[in-house]
Amino acid sequence: MWERWTLTAAVIGVVGSLAGSGRAQEGAAKPVRMPLDEARRTVAMLNDAYVNAVVGMHTTYVKDAGSTPAASVARQLFVAMKKQGWPETRWLSTTGRPLNPDAAPKDAFERDAVAALNKKQARFERVEKGRLRVVTVIPLVDKSCQTCHARDKVGDPVGGLSYTVYLKQ
Ligand code: HEC
Repeated sequence: MWERWTLTAAVIGVVGSLAGSGRAQEGAAKPVRMPLDEARRTVAMLNDAYVNAVVGMHTTYVKDAGSTPAASVARQLFVAMKKQGWPETRWLSTTGRPLNPDAAPKDAFERDAVAALNKKQARFERVEKGRLRVVTVIPLVDKSCQTCHARDKVGDPVGGLSYTVYLKQ
């Protein structure tokens, strides 16, 4: 599994550097800032796109425990989006035992979001330090997820997507 992961990451890296002939090559772009209303709508749109992409990748390509998880491909996409200055997104684990240790909550906001998601809240937001922060729940969709997330039950929150959007003051 790890070899295929690495290969996928390498392929995405190559495609990414070919595609990023403009801003990306000059390093990370400045974060795009937007008013609060627009920031909320943008998160809603990104969330619909990401969740549908992840579920589509999962059902199309993930056949067994040796497959590259859709979450890994999505993580590369989040890096590419941030590099262009678009809102930041990262995976968050709600279980206390993330498959990727980097998905553990990193600060007070994410810890509070995990507590809310585990109480069946689907969305958690806070405006702090000039940023809109939102976490949306990712439930364990069906049994096919248990191939790798073996200890989680169908329907339980297994994680979330944690968004940060810089606000225009
Ligand atoms: C082939 C194994 C596999 C399958 C099947 C799988 N996952 Fe994952 N999942 C992983 C791995 C490995 C990671 C860590 C990925 C990374 O960060 O690169 C992960 C990460 C996640 C995360 C982020 C939190 C964490 O634990 O790192 C969520 C949420 C998640 N998966 C949900 C799902 C859902 C929902 C399904 C079913 C639709 C699913 N996964 C199916 C292997 C899998």
